[in-house]
Amino acid sequence: MQTILENNRRRIGDFEVVEFVDEDQVEALRRRLDIDVPLELQWTWEYGSEVEELRALYERGKRGQWNAEEDLDWSTPLPRDEWFTPQIGASLLSSVLTEMGADEKTCRDAAWDEFSHLISQLLHGEQAALQLCGQLVNCCPTMDQKWYAGSQVIDEVRHVEVFSKFLQRKMGVVVPIDPTLKVLLDKLLAAPTWQTKCLGMQTLFEGMAVGIMDIVQRANTNPLIKDIIHRVHQDEARHAAFGILTMRRLVKESDPETMIELEDFAFNILETLNANQQLDMLHRFGPKYGLDPQAVVQATHNWEQWSFVNSEPYMHTVMPNLMRLGLVTERTEDKYRERGMLVGEHLAPRSALPGV
Ligand SMILES: [Fe+2]
Ligand SMILES: [Fe+2]
Repeated sequence: MQTILENNRRRIGDFEVVEFVDEDQVEALRRRLDIDVPLELQWTWEYGSEVEELRALYERGKRGQWNAEEDLDWSTPLPRDEWFTPQIGASLLSSVLTEMGADEKTCRDAAWDEFSHLISQLLHGEQAALQLCGQLVNCCPTMDQKWYAGSQVIDEVRHVEVFSKFLQRKMGVVVPIDPTLKVLLDKLLAAPTWQTKCLGMQTLFEGMAVGIMDIVQRANTNPLIKDIIHRVHQDEARHAAFGILTMRRLVKESDPETMIELEDFAFNILETLNANQQLDMLHRFGPKYGLDPQAVVQATHNWEQWSFVNSEPYMHTVMPNLMRLGLVTERTEDKYRERGMLVGEHLAPRSALPGV
């Protein structure tokens, strides 16, 4: 899997990107539905709580349940000919097209396509979270972890339900999974230990999801979208907290060699996500609007504020959490900075850790 990513790396200017240009390869990745997953099931006879904070999180999870079919106002319209995000700043396609002088309808159509793409990728990510969480129920060693992971399974089912219903009912499309995302999710699902599964999904992907959802939430004006994201976001913050609580205990017990492995694992996943620079989305929709994917990436890298915009989803939750865990050190900090994933003077976390 690593080879697929390495073979699809190239340079755009002085930035190394991951870019899939071979459509047959992309389709083959999407057709790969059966993944060989090593899984070591763990029994435990300790039924009492060992980790107070995890039990408290489980209780919060039970109280925070909601019904995707009944608790949302599905009659809320999402008109295609009205803006529900700002024309500039929220959508890459719309921002670039506006800068090029395209008419408003073209920009709005492009923003619509890009939004359907974003929610579709979140949906595919939710399916991976559901599958991985099912694995955690089996392979996590303590009863507290099994209880929490079990309760998270139903959260993830609900997220798959709500995003798929939103896309089908309001946007009329589910965009296929991006190849870069597919490779990374396969890698996490096939990770050999519960520790790497937990770091990968619960800390990295859940943390990214929280950051992206917060950005979407702030930019959006449609009440249905705002309500969906708000509800999913609250669940995800709890999931990210589970990842941190579990990882915090894990890193305490880890020797320096394991810490280096975990730090590199985190960097490699996040760097790959960042290296795509939305090229998967640009390859799908760019040509429809007369945009060359590589030229768009090149142009955005010339923006003065590029690294601030680029670093936002990383610096929102993932980076602060990795810092707290001691999984960003001087060994990797500069590499994150060079790639525009970390900006500013200090490594100060910007958001409070939910539930911890
Ligand atoms: Fe989720
Ligand atoms: Fe989640």
